[in-house]
Amino acid sequence: MEFITDAKEVFEQAYGKPATRLFTAAGRINVIGEYVDYCGGKVLPAALNLACKIFARANGERVIRILLKGIDGIIELDLEKLESYKTLKYANYQAGVAYLLQKKGVELVGCDLYYDCGVPFGSGLSSSAAIEVATAVALCELAGVDYDKVELAVLAQKAENEYVGVNCGIMDQFASAMGKKEHAVLLDCATLAYEYVPLELGEYRIVVANCNKPHNLKESKYNVRRQEVETALKLIREVKPVNCLAELTSKEFNEVKYLLSGVVAKRAEHVVMECERVRLAVQALKEGDIVELGRLLNESHYSLRDLYEVTGKELDALSSFARKEPECLGSRMIGAGFGGCTISIVKKSAVDGFIRRVGKAYFDAIGYRASFYETSIEDGITVSEL
Ligand code: GLA
Repeated sequence: MEFITDAKEVFEQAYGKPATRLFTAAGRINVIGEYVDYCGGKVLPAALNLACKIFARANGERVIRILLKGIDGIIELDLEKLESYKTLKYANYQAGVAYLLQKKGVELVGCDLYYDCGVPFGSGLSSSAAIEVATAVALCELAGVDYDKVELAVLAQKAENEYVGVNCGIMDQFASAMGKKEHAVLLDCATLAYEYVPLELGEYRIVVANCNKPHNLKESKYNVRRQEVETALKLIREVKPVNCLAELTSKEFNEVKYLLSGVVAKRAEHVVMECERVRLAVQALKEGDIVELGRLLNESHYSLRDLYEVTGKELDALSSFARKEPECLGSRMIGAGFGGCTISIVKKSAVDGFIRRVGKAYFDAIGYRASFYETSIEDGITVSEL
């Protein structure tokens, strides 16, 4: 594979010795179950062929060196000072993971790393989770310690929550670590119980499109949304003993809705209804009812637009142009929104025309281009010797 030869050359030029190992962790799409992970809901993500690749070599020193494709200069993390890189540009996610591994008792070894992240940044395809999980795998492997992939996902999420300061849920890290070729992962975010569901769409396929408005969870309203649903849960718990919003059926929610008002009511309603849609979507997928799956994707988008208010004109335009296509069964934003990607279910034979027409309509409406990716569903983590 050409990217390996190129990356190996970059590595050797930067560090003077060849890389010995390659670790990858995937970006993800989410079929459905948006903004429910931190409310104890079920989500249905799948790992992508777009992945963060780390070329690595132990260096025998007490320092982790980081070189990122497209960024000048090598960043150094001193293994004795891992707590001090919380705001370090380009390497705080990696430092957070290293810091938590060390705190857990892993004897980290110094290493030279070259990151070639194939998950576009700010795209809603979880470049951060891919970087965190790949880093965790690389550091454990180089240290020669056994690791459990689910535990690594949880540690990566903790790094993002506590070290970087983004209160994300577990979905992205879990998908990145546990994704399986040609399957979606039905993950119960309250218990971390999971099941693989074959992503069989018959004559249809999923088209991933980036609206190219970048987003950044730290600077977006992501943490605010989380506070809003936590407020909703607190109010509901005054009358009903539930552990999380996802436990409420829509009927139960309607009985307690009077306790909530304004945006807090809207946010909670999205969560409850999205959890129902996940149940229906899994059923539809298992029954091969792709038309129903497409309908649920559309409903999910409308709810994220009107109730959770995390879409924006770019994602609304992109998904609405997609929906106008006769061979498209449904389309919605994925991930945190505010920018980033949509997924659309499109008849395989119509994909080229779909990309052309939706791409043009989007450009005419927004003034810059959307990107469409060639994607497939793959395993989350890979480890290889070079
Ligand atoms: C981001 C977060 C996830 C999840 C989604 C919204 O991708 O990292 O934990 O909350 O947004 O579903």
